[in-house]
Amino acid sequence: MLKNLFATTSIAESSTGSGDIPDGGGAPGEVTLKRALTARHLIMLGIGAIIGAGIFVITGQAAAEHAGPAVVLSFVLAGIACALAAVCYAEFAAMLPVSGSAYSYSYATLGEYVAWFVGWSLVLEYLFTVATVAAGWSGYFNKLLLLISGWIGHDVSLPETLSAAPFTVVNGHIQATGMLINLPAVAIIAAIAGLCYVGITQSAFVNSIIVAIKVTVILLFIAFAAKYVNPAHWHPFIPANEGGSKYGLAGVTRAAAIVFFSYIGFDAVSTAAGEAKNPQRDMPIGILGSLILCTILYIIVSAIITGLTDFRLLGTPEPVSTALDGYPQLHWLQVIVVIGAVTGLSSVILVMLMGQPRIFYSMARDGLIPALFGRIHPKFRTPHVGTVVVGVAAALLGGMFNIGVLGEMVAMGTLLAFATVCIGVLVLRRTRPELKRAFRVPFAVIVCPLGALACMYLFMQSFVEHWRWMVTWIVLGQLIYFGYGYSHSKLRKKSA
Ligand code: ALA
Repeated sequence: MLKNLFATTSIAESSTGSGDIPDGGGAPGEVTLKRALTARHLIMLGIGAIIGAGIFVITGQAAAEHAGPAVVLSFVLAGIACALAAVCYAEFAAMLPVSGSAYSYSYATLGEYVAWFVGWSLVLEYLFTVATVAAGWSGYFNKLLLLISGWIGHDVSLPETLSAAPFTVVNGHIQATGMLINLPAVAIIAAIAGLCYVGITQSAFVNSIIVAIKVTVILLFIAFAAKYVNPAHWHPFIPANEGGSKYGLAGVTRAAAIVFFSYIGFDAVSTAAGEAKNPQRDMPIGILGSLILCTILYIIVSAIITGLTDFRLLGTPEPVSTALDGYPQLHWLQVIVVIGAVTGLSSVILVMLMGQPRIFYSMARDGLIPALFGRIHPKFRTPHVGTVVVGVAAALLGGMFNIGVLGEMVAMGTLLAFATVCIGVLVLRRTRPELKRAFRVPFAVIVCPLGALACMYLFMQSFVEHWRWMVTWIVLGQLIYFGYGYSHSKLRKKSA
């Protein structure tokens, strides 16, 4: 049994056989994913997935409750952990250009059981990110409707019962809020799932437009708000600890685990590897390029928002806009920030909604989940059934729950996957040293363990608070694996 659990797919299988099928690499007559994406598309997909609720929503809470102006340091810390993981993803994605991302890398290196565990953790990352960001999107959308109501002199805003989640989580327990449904969150997920259904080219095109808008908005914010920064707001840079993780160094590391959410998404580029034209060259460019650009923007934006106002005032659902509250001359910029957030958050939903069905596609082809997730639409060449199922599940979550604990569950699932990928690189260097690696992690013996340790350190920051939810999730995953995946595994059937 142990041998079965740790059986690995061969690299050849991972890239052409049961794991995934590059264009034209499937069985004769089989419909495959379409190789259509260039390096530019991949960088855009990365930025599309990265910049979102993290910077537009979560940063304010992290600064107000944990780090103060030193949230900038939290961004640096989380950025370092992500950079270490990103180089590991780059090595794998260039070597195994398949759509299963960390799931497929684990299958090829650490075996089926670990691969299942990672795939299950990735559900937290992708599906829950869609729900979390849709809830954040709804907050900014409602703010936009209020602004429009003010301009046209007619109330077009939605009643609160239809624009807020009916459930919230307080101290680990689910509580009713008295609201009915978060309708905007459901609507945005439905619209974007429709787009993902009809094609990768269309999705990448829409993503590129959204990315252009949101990066322009962030650059405008930096250009016009920077001159109003009052350095007095940065003193003390690390406010004295007020107990627990409220400020001080403990607060900075706690905030690092929270703002880690902002970086999630560079790895989603790897789920498009099965659709990249030249994955060996372009995957590292897409993954590392998008992460570097976003890290620079985050550090600058977080320094500016904490320099514009007292950090204690930033704990609102729209902190980037809140930071401008004391500057009536920048009201126009506030409006642009709200429009940028409404637009920008939708590309995170888009890329993550593209990623999850592609991971399920790989898992289904390995037999670990039902085969219908492995179906490709004959005309659109997208994993259409998976897209619909993921869309419905995300819409239910996003319509019913608010951001809070969802965001931390996302971060914990992602960190587990990142740590596994870091370890996987080292394992494969040992087991298959001869494989051609188009990109190599520099100083792998140092970088990979450091990456894994940094990710596990951030994981523990959230785990101590939310361990009940995480353990429940893991147990649920075990039940599904031993109830279904173990007996349906194609690798096991082959070796039987
Ligand atoms: N990094 C993405 C965001 O901040 C998930 O929304």
